[in-house]
Amino acid sequence: MKLETQHQVIALPKRADPRGILVPIELTSQVPFTVQRVYFITKADPALPRGFHAHRRTREAMVCVSGSCDLRLRSRDGAQTSIEMDDPGRMVIIEPGLWREMHNITEDAVILVLASLPYDEGDYIRDQTSFDMEQPKGVVTAVSSLDLKRENAAFEPALSAAVQRVVESGWYVGGPEVKEFEERWAAFCGARHAVGVGNGLDAMELVLRAWGVGPGDEVIVPANTYIATWLAVDAVGARVVPVEPDPATFNISAPTIEPALTNRTKVVLGVHLYGRSLDHAPIRRLCDERGIKFLEDGAQGHGASKDGVRVGAQGHAAAFSFYPTKNLGALGDAGAITTDDPATAESVALLGNYGSKVKYVNDVKGRNSRLDAIHAAALLAKLPRLDSGSEHRRILAGRYQQKLGKIEGLELPAAPLSAEEHVWHTYVVRCADRLGLQTHLQRQGIQTLIHYPIAPFDQQAYADYGLDPANFPISRSIHKNCLSLPISATHTELEIDHVCDAISDFFAQEQA
Ligand SMILES: Cc1ncc(COP(=O)(O)O)c(C=O)c1O
Repeated sequence: MKLETQHQVIALPKRADPRGILVPIELTSQVPFTVQRVYFITKADPALPRGFHAHRRTREAMVCVSGSCDLRLRSRDGAQTSIEMDDPGRMVIIEPGLWREMHNITEDAVILVLASLPYDEGDYIRDQTSFDMEQPKGVVTAVSSLDLKRENAAFEPALSAAVQRVVESGWYVGGPEVKEFEERWAAFCGARHAVGVGNGLDAMELVLRAWGVGPGDEVIVPANTYIATWLAVDAVGARVVPVEPDPATFNISAPTIEPALTNRTKVVLGVHLYGRSLDHAPIRRLCDERGIKFLEDGAQGHGASKDGVRVGAQGHAAAFSFYPTKNLGALGDAGAITTDDPATAESVALLGNYGSKVKYVNDVKGRNSRLDAIHAAALLAKLPRLDSGSEHRRILAGRYQQKLGKIEGLELPAAPLSAEEHVWHTYVVRCADRLGLQTHLQRQGIQTLIHYPIAPFDQQAYADYGLDPANFPISRSIHKNCLSLPISATHTELEIDHVCDAISDFFAQEQA
């Protein structure tokens, strides 16, 4: 990104009269981001320059309320500028990824800073070499759907230190890192137990096996989901019973589940699809009344909560994937289950370790699905910032809602009842001419994805079920016209604005 696009100077309305100067700052119209933090610098020593850092994600607005200072900005491609901050009627907006220094700060200077995110030391780049190295230089004209390299770079140096720690420890499967992550993940979700496993699919399969689900049993699943949810049920020999989602939330709910229950139903396997929490309480009630189990597929819902209960503590057990693209992603395949029930936790741990508690003593026919120490260490390094990452995603989703809300022909996801309900794993819009929109965005260097192009009931793998796609009109239409726009903990508001502008252009061209 060019230096000129990374900062801007905005004139504030300054009212000067004999009584003094009054400068209002309208947060909604003059500051181009949601302010989450305010600080000021005062009583500075003119001999000591300040700043000497860049932010990875935070946007800032700076006003020199009194006195003066020399603000120097530098971008990664080496472009530099110096702004004399001596006018309270001027506000400088500084985008992430810009190195800033403040020199010659006068003794009477008061510098007010408005920031888009709460304080987070991991968001700072404090040495110039890391700053220069961290991201590719030059002009960025493209927006990737999800840049995993950039996501993980935001956790340096902690992430590399975690990997190094494991390499030097000699413990590569299970061990202290895994135990610590299990404890911390259970606490984060608000569940009593967590057990690390190999991936999200295994997590679901192992819980189903621990509960004794098998041939002759039925498991309710969403018709609209990633196929792993269905595969876990088939892996234990049970039969999937797909139900339609609520078209507003994309999630299944108690009213859509109830008519599908039979006396063979053993489990309701609900998915917190796209990052939106299930409306769990009525589902749990329904399951408890019928003596059936409620298993959450939390692969996309890390950290979301509804009515104060986090994903992972809503059902009788929950399964998580920490695949690298997930909101909390490992450095390869990884997963976990959470539950309040010690017997379920113990059984999953046993089944995932060859059915063995004591080495070479096998109580049951288990399999090998364990969490590797390297992934546990990486997850431990990343977990402390999962909530601030979700907060950032909410800001970006809010920006999409605000900028795209009035476009006819583009259907946005329904706003959640409370912000915590959604962690925006994906931001899924719907559009009749999906291919046209996707191609247009691709030409502008904007990458989008489709979650998912083929519904599980339309997959060859499920041909043997003989399901009639006509029974799933809502899921079919979602699969036919959904498009996932770029969103992540490291996308900037500027990038989202770029996507929004390109989408507006597409619809303007269509109407012209
Ligand atoms: C809803 C859902 N469930 C389960 C999974 C499976 O997780 P894993 O890839 O770790 O097996 C995924 C992964 O993409 C998913 O999105």
